[in-house]
Amino acid sequence: MAHSAAAEIAARAPFLADLDRAHLHPLWDRYKRITPMQPRPLDTPFHWPWRETEALLHRAVAEVAIDDIERRALIMSHPCFGEETATTGTMLGAFTVLDPGEQARPHRHTGAAIRFAVQAEGAATIVDGRWCEMRTGDLILTPPMAWHGHINPSNHRIIWFDAANMPLLRALNAHFFEPGDPNNNDFWRVDQGDEKLWRAAGLAVADASAGTTHSPKFHYPGDVTRQMLSEATVGADGARMLRYVNPATGGAVMATLDCYAARFSKGVETRARRGAYSMICLVVSGSGRSTIGDKTFEWSQHDVFTVPPWSWASHKAIDGDADLFIVSDKVVFERLDVLREEMQ
Ligand SMILES: [Fe+2]
Repeated sequence: MAHSAAAEIAARAPFLADLDRAHLHPLWDRYKRITPMQPRPLDTPFHWPWRETEALLHRAVAEVAIDDIERRALIMSHPCFGEETATTGTMLGAFTVLDPGEQARPHRHTGAAIRFAVQAEGAATIVDGRWCEMRTGDLILTPPMAWHGHINPSNHRIIWFDAANMPLLRALNAHFFEPGDPNNNDFWRVDQGDEKLWRAAGLAVADASAGTTHSPKFHYPGDVTRQMLSEATVGADGARMLRYVNPATGGAVMATLDCYAARFSKGVETRARRGAYSMICLVVSGSGRSTIGDKTFEWSQHDVFTVPPWSWASHKAIDGDADLFIVSDKVVFERLDVLREEMQ
């Protein structure tokens, strides 16, 4: 005799209650949630206009003394992550501001981070005993457990863009942090050090020990990036795209963060692409419009926007060519052998 669905559910209720008391869940009523057909990111595409962020960065200098804090940075926090303070599910993006003479004291951590010089001419980041000058468009890596500090010896206020993978490491409970000695002045008395050895693409010192976990080169000058963008061939999607690579392996610069530079030609809409990974996009120059998932943003210089996992994204430069700096967790998906990408 056939039971109604409601009667069946009612008949099972005592069993389900016993399972719950034993901290056991039945797979059959939740497998679609546990094993979704495709990624279901918590976050939507999001956009932080520079005109709002910039004003608040200047206020941060007025309101918060650098001596009182480890870093004077404002993190772009997607509202869907609440108190988690994350820009995407795996990464955070931020801007740091330092006045002349200020320094952000040394520390190190298992989190991987990068700096991209926005208005940072004359500032420097010291990474593992190497003095890395920051000029417009420079990328500087701070690999996991590399000691790093920042200093502004110039005579003007500087701002740079930061990105790091703390949300990913917190999800893995893999974050360790060590403060440096704030009174160790020797930390700041360094020159370029071994950075010189990795200056030229395609040349390495014979027998140099580069390791394989992250790039031995920490400093990627912006003038070289801009030159290469102007000479690179246009990709299948209609954009010029460069990947910052570890010169010893040809792969991503770090095990968990992957950086790209993109140039869009004026008026050319790129073919929509999507990937399993997420991206934080910083507008380096120019202005344009992006359609990401079901949202469309108009952006201009120093705006930041995100592309969540598995979201179709296409871009178009409006007034002239436009350049983006993109930081992504794509390399994590490569390493885990779960990378998927598509183009329309
Ligand atoms: Fe740091």
